[in-house]
Amino acid sequence: MSSVPPEVFVERTFDADALVAHLLADDSDPWAASYASLENERDLAYGQLFRTTQDMRTLLAERDAALEAISRAHHQTLLRLAVAAEYKDGDTGAHIVRLGLLSEILALRLGQTEAYSRMLRLAAPMHDVGKIGIPDAVLKKAGPLTAEEWQVMRQHPDIGARILGESGIAVFEMAGEVARGHHEKWDGSGYPRSLAGEDIPLSARIVALVDFFDALTMDRVYRPRFSDTEAIAMVCEQRGRHFDPDLVDIFLDCVEVLIAARDEVNARGLAIEDLLKKGDCVVVPGGRG
Ligand SMILES: [Fe+2]
Repeated sequence: MSSVPPEVFVERTFDADALVAHLLADDSDPWAASYASLENERDLAYGQLFRTTQDMRTLLAERDAALEAISRAHHQTLLRLAVAAEYKDGDTGAHIVRLGLLSEILALRLGQTEAYSRMLRLAAPMHDVGKIGIPDAVLKKAGPLTAEEWQVMRQHPDIGARILGESGIAVFEMAGEVARGHHEKWDGSGYPRSLAGEDIPLSARIVALVDFFDALTMDRVYRPRFSDTEAIAMVCEQRGRHFDPDLVDIFLDCVEVLIAARDEVNARGLAIEDLLKKGDCVVVPGGRG
């Protein structure tokens, strides 16, 4: 008998368990003991591989939890800024909550991704954060603004963008984009840069339309609210002027869903914290595009 262990040639993919079982089944094989030790080594290797895999799973779960916590902190910080701006502006909290949710619904209806639309839900309420930098004498003036005062007021998009922008944090970047672009108009007659058409970021175009519609249907100290029908007509008048014409068409397609969402925010008294919840804050049949 040769003192050299037999060689096993494998010419195709094989099942390791079946191969070892086959070798062990041959009682006449004098190398059976070696095969048995081979089986032990294989079990040890499998055990080590299993533990390594478990360790990697634990590390990945810890990394995901840490990223989730960072993301939550970013979103909380952003919305706290919105609350600060709200105190300054005297705007109602409900308006910015509606603005977030309705912008999200409109983005989904446009075919934007869930990730983009959810980010817009958080970014939209920041559109007027730059008003923090506008003096009360201008911001809260009861009468009409002079030309000089308008010049000051028109700085709030850039101030907002400076507060929010260039942080490298995606949701802040989008909020900065919305703040800078929400007073631009499709026909180029807006401010601060007189951008036109698709040069205006989509996020800002969506928020501008939703803000316009929602503000019209709110009571103001200087006027009562417009009816939904009147407000929709005023949006249509601005198709291709103030607003992206395609966006107005999508808005008209889903305006009943938007109105239902608005009414639900009001009925449930949803607060800015509700914007941080995962998934839908409001239950609107057909609200998901
Ligand atoms: Fe504004």
